[in-house]
Amino acid sequence: MTVHFIGAGPGAPDLLTLRGLNLIAASPVCLYAGSLIPEAILEHCPTNAYLVNTAAMGLDEIIAEIKKCHANDQDVVRLQSGDLSVWSAMGEQLRRLKAEGIPFTITPGVPSFSAAAAALGSELTLPSIAQSVVLTRTPGRASAMPPNENLKNFAATGATLAIHLSIGNLDQVIEDLSPAYGTDCPAAIVYRASWPDQQIIHATLGTLKKAMTANINRTALILVGQVIGAKNFEESCLYAADYDRRYRPQTAESPWANWSEADD
Ligand SMILES: C[S@@+](CC[C@H](N)C(=O)[O-])C[C@H]1O[C@@H](n2cnc3c(N)ncnc32)[C@H](O)[C@@H]1O
Repeated sequence: MTVHFIGAGPGAPDLLTLRGLNLIAASPVCLYAGSLIPEAILEHCPTNAYLVNTAAMGLDEIIAEIKKCHANDQDVVRLQSGDLSVWSAMGEQLRRLKAEGIPFTITPGVPSFSAAAAALGSELTLPSIAQSVVLTRTPGRASAMPPNENLKNFAATGATLAIHLSIGNLDQVIEDLSPAYGTDCPAAIVYRASWPDQQIIHATLGTLKKAMTANINRTALILVGQVIGAKNFEESCLYAADYDRRYRPQTAESPWANWSEADD
């Protein structure tokens, strides 16, 4: 018996990995985070699968369900939105499973920030503009932030920011970022990226509040940075005609001239 944690992606049912799909189709039990997992993904479960929506359950109840399956030698898929490496509460579930000696696997998923970038048609790291993306959030009712992880500190880097779980703190986000980024810095809100009702708001830090629409009160990402909509940026060396590299040595003297896959 194994518990398979699966990142179910940002919402569109076809933004799920093949590995995730195969595990879902093979497991008799599915525990899913109901608020963000689309029905169409659950349709891949076997017809007689036992489905449990964990949206209203606590950690003890979730672990109790898993322990029952362990006793019955039934595999479980545990579906959570986006990717499991960020804001998934997987860490605390894994700690309990390790203590119980219950085996697990982890299958990554498409994170919501990637889906939001795709919706915006933006690369978040453009040469000469930004080479880092900060995935962060602001404090919430249930989660304080470590003292140095605050927007003012991140803003000092000028990196692209993908701010999760913070649509209710929009005023504070704008106030904290405007001094470093400037009110004319491009900003966007992507609501329910990849869902049929996806909504995109393009603005600047100075106009974002006014551009917001009332229906956007959850499941939205705030993206801030000069990369959004940028046209003036340098090309990367990667495809430059004169860039000497492993797969395209420029001269016979190139360190890559005699390199072959087998040397790696
Ligand atoms: C509990 S976190 C889960 C993050 C998830 N593990 C991931 O990889 O994106 C939920 C937050 O992620 C963001 N989010 C999740 N799905 C989204 C989507 N489809 N569109 C926009 N933001 C989304 C929102 O900021 C939301 O408040």
